Amino acid sequence: MNATSIEPARPASEHLVSLSHHSYLIRSVSGSDELALFDMFARSSPEDLRLRCLGMIKDFPRLAAARLAHCDRGREIALVAVDGEGAAPGEIVGVAHLIEEPTEPGCAEFDILVRTDVKGHGVGFQLMKDVLARARERRLTKIVGFIAGENHAMLLMTSELGFVRDHAEMGTVRVTAML
Ligand SMILES: CC(C)(COP(=O)(O)OP(=O)(O)OC[C@H]1O[C@@H](n2cnc3c(N)ncnc32)[C@H](O)[C@@H]1OP(=O)(O)O)[C@@H](O)C(=O)NCCC(=O)NCCS
Repeated sequence: MNATSIEPARPASEHLVSLSHHSYLIRSVSGSDELALFDMFARSSPEDLRLRCLGMIKDFPRLAAARLAHCDRGREIALVAVDGEGAAPGEIVGVAHLIEEPTEPGCAEFDILVRTDVKGHGVGFQLMKDVLARARERRLTKIVGFIAGENHAMLLMTSELGFVRDHAEMGTVRVTAML
């Protein structure tokens, strides 16, 4: 038998990306990610958590981590970016999430968070591209997001990804992309 080691095949749903000379694995969330998600939320700034959920929820890191790790895969898509190298390989550093609207078939709302110290390296953009690709595979036709008016980074990113601003109310902008 040939002694050459063969890397186990990576599931088609996972892929490695190199961003700012650092590698990340993008994959679907799993039930065993709860602790790593908690760690990511706990290490993000209160301001970033506020921008993610448009309001501070008591005990947000614990609740959001449990909620995402055990999301309903029938009507939600959650992708995580996992640090593939460096001081702490295996840490989750970002999560993008879609949840289908119960009242509007084909439509889903997104939310996204990249751990504060990892922002600005392209992880958020990559997660958004991947979650939109998954949405297309699932035959979703419309993705919406609610973004704080002062969240220029996210407004710019969504516009680069083809979202248009179609509504603004109480300091929050709704952006929509037709797939
Ligand atoms: C908004 C957020 C998700 C962005 O994530 P990020 O990883 O910091 O963003 P990225 O580094 O991927 O992208 C940032 C920039 O690069 C651009 N960009 C990144 N990759 C790109 C690419 N391949 N092609 C074109 N543009 C790209 C983005 O438009 C943006 O521009 P800027 O840095 O010049 O302002 C992150 O800041 C965050 O988690 N914020 C708090 C939570 C939040 O605001 N969520 C949104 C509401 S749900």
